Amino acid sequence: MKVFSTILFTFSLSALPGLAVDYKTDVLPIMKERCWDCHANETKVKGNLALDDLEEVRDYQIGKYNIIRPGNSAESNFVERLLLDSGDTDFMPRKAEALPKKEIETIQKWIDAGAIIDRENMTEDEAERVKEMSGGPSEPSAGEFLTWMNREGKEIEARFLSVADGKVKLLLKNGKQYDVPISSLSGASVEQAKKLAGK
Ligand code: HEC
Repeated sequence: MKVFSTILFTFSLSALPGLAVDYKTDVLPIMKERCWDCHANETKVKGNLALDDLEEVRDYQIGKYNIIRPGNSAESNFVERLLLDSGDTDFMPRKAEALPKKEIETIQKWIDAGAIIDRENMTEDEAERVKEMSGGPSEPSAGEFLTWMNREGKEIEARFLSVADGKVKLLLKNGKQYDVPISSLSGASVEQAKKLAGK
């Protein structure tokens, strides 16, 4: 197991920087500062848009044909309005200055990452969306570098080559081949090897 102890990779599926934006933490504060006079139950609700009612935003304003289209900020009316010329009748925030570019980018990022309201409290729909956006539960494929873990929890990245005589043959990134006894692999890695071997 020398290789496992010398080559250590930390690997995390959620390590997509900048994508873990949600409404509650990142967008709501912007809304509070810029849109509250006209779009909150605690003040006034214009255009039927109450940005402080998180459930309503989630259930009625976010969707494929709604003003906030998950994964598609470019076609979200919500964003389009922010980008209009301030003289345009549809421009938001009405009668105020355009949002700073950075705030608009945060909103775009939020929508493009799936327009999740609260990442710590996702609905089934939202969880499904996040899964889809991250490429879904992709099947392991023989041509790519995958993560392999041994029973002690140590990980390497390697390409699958074959299984024979109780050993998995892997190709490491440095080009070297490496035989790993199946018995030393974690359950998930054994499954992965079986799938790749077509068994
Ligand atoms: C001074 C009041 C005012 C402020 C501030 C304001 N809005 Fe509005 N907003 C309105 C009015 C009035 C309407 C309804 C008329 C219309 O659709 O243009 C509206 C409508 C909208 C709609 C369309 C809703 C729909 O269902 O079609 C969106 C989206 C919107 N506002 C977003 C925002 C955002 C985001 C902000 C903050 C950045 C904001 N507004 C700030 C007055 C305001």
